[in-house]
Amino acid sequence: MIRINEHYRKLKASYLFVEIARRVAAHAAAQPERPVIKLGIGDVTHALPSVAVEGFRKGIAEQAGDETFHGYGPEQGYEFLRELIATADFGERGCDVSADEIFVSDGAKCDTGNFQELFAADITVAVPDPVYPVYVDTNVMAGRTGIWRDGRYDGLVYLPGTSENGFVPPPPSQPVDLVYLCFPNNPTGSTATKAELAEWVSYARKTGAIILFDAAYEEFIRDDSLPHSIYEIDGAREVAVEFRSLSKTAGFTGTRCAYTVVPRELKAFDSQGSPHSVRDLWNRRQSTKFNGVSYPVQTAAAAVFTPEGRKEIRARSDYYLENAALIRTTMEELGYECSGGFNSPYVWIRTGTDSWAFFDDVLNRAGVVITPGAGFGLHGEGYVRISAFNHREKVIEALSRIQAALR
Ligand code: MLT
Repeated sequence: MIRINEHYRKLKASYLFVEIARRVAAHAAAQPERPVIKLGIGDVTHALPSVAVEGFRKGIAEQAGDETFHGYGPEQGYEFLRELIATADFGERGCDVSADEIFVSDGAKCDTGNFQELFAADITVAVPDPVYPVYVDTNVMAGRTGIWRDGRYDGLVYLPGTSENGFVPPPPSQPVDLVYLCFPNNPTGSTATKAELAEWVSYARKTGAIILFDAAYEEFIRDDSLPHSIYEIDGAREVAVEFRSLSKTAGFTGTRCAYTVVPRELKAFDSQGSPHSVRDLWNRRQSTKFNGVSYPVQTAAAAVFTPEGRKEIRARSDYYLENAALIRTTMEELGYECSGGFNSPYVWIRTGTDSWAFFDDVLNRAGVVITPGAGFGLHGEGYVRISAFNHREKVIEALSRIQAALR
C-alpha cells in the first residue's frame, strides 16, 4: 500500500488564492448580472511590454529554423540574460553580483518554495506574520513544523509584523537558522530601510542564519533612500539569497520568468561542521530538477533589461502605483487606517473586523475581490489587502462600488 507524505495532512484544506477563487466562482454563478472586479491576487492586467514582445518574436523565429534552433538550454539560464541582469539590476546599483551567481527560473513562487530543500529537516525556520503563504506551506510539506493549532503551525518562529513596528519585524531574540523576508512586503506593502535590513544582516552574521530575501516588488520603490536589493547592505553576500521576478515588474505572470541570486560566499554546514557552498547546492538541485526557462521567454526577458525595456516597465509600475495611491486615498477617506500603496502595489487596510467576513461582504455587496488578511497569518486578522493590479477604469469602478457599499 502506497502511503502519502503525512506532512501534507497538516496543511489547511486549500491554498489561499484557490479558496478565494472558489468563493468568487460561487458568487459569480449566483449573481451573473454584475461582473466582479478583481483586486485580489496580484496578477497584472497590462500586455507584455512591446520590447519583450519583440524579444519573444525573435526567439520564436530562431526556434523556427534548423540553423538557429535551440534545444535544451543551460539549466541556470542563458549567459546573455544572466549578464544583462547582473549589470542592470546589480552592477548599476553598486552591488557585487556576477552572472554565475544568478539562476534564471520560471517563477519566484517556485524558487522561494523550493529553496528550503537545501537545508536539513530539523532546522529552525522564522517567518513574518502576516506572510506570503508559500514560505510557510513549503516548510510544512517538508516536515519542518508540527500541527496547525490556533492559527499557527507548531515549530515555526513567527515574527509579528504590526502597526507598532511598521510591519517590519525586527530580528527575534532567539537564534534561528532560516529567515524569510520580503520587501516591499507582500501583503502589507511595507518597505524596509537600509538600517532595518542592516540589523537583519548583522543578526544573520552573528547567529549563522541564512536570509531568503524576496525582492519581487523592488521595481515599485520610488523612495531613493530605500534599498532595492539586500546586497546594498555590507556583509549580505555571506548570509542572503535574493529572489527577483519579472511577473509584476514586466507583466510576466502568464509568461513566467524570474531569477534567484546565490552568492559564492554563502555557506551552510554538514553534520560534521564542514562548510558547503549554497550556490553549488542550488546549482546541483536546479540541474537535476529543472531544465531551464524556454529560449523565447529568455529572449523576451532579456529585452526587459535594455534601456528601452526599463523605460517601458517604469511606465507600467508608475501606472500601478497611481492605482495604489487611489486605493489608499479612498480607503483612508472611508476612515480606514492604511499602510503600503507607496513604493508598493499593495494597500494593507485595517478593518478591525473578521477579515473573511469583510472579504465576503465586499464581494457580495460591491462585487469586488480583495484578499482577507487572515489568509496571510494570525496577525493578518483584522486587515484586508487590496491589489493595485488592474486597469484604471476598473479600479475607479471598484472603489466607487466599495464606497457605496461601505459608507
Ligand atoms: C499575491 O497576490 O500575493 C501574489 O500574486 C501571489 C504570487 O505572486 O504568487
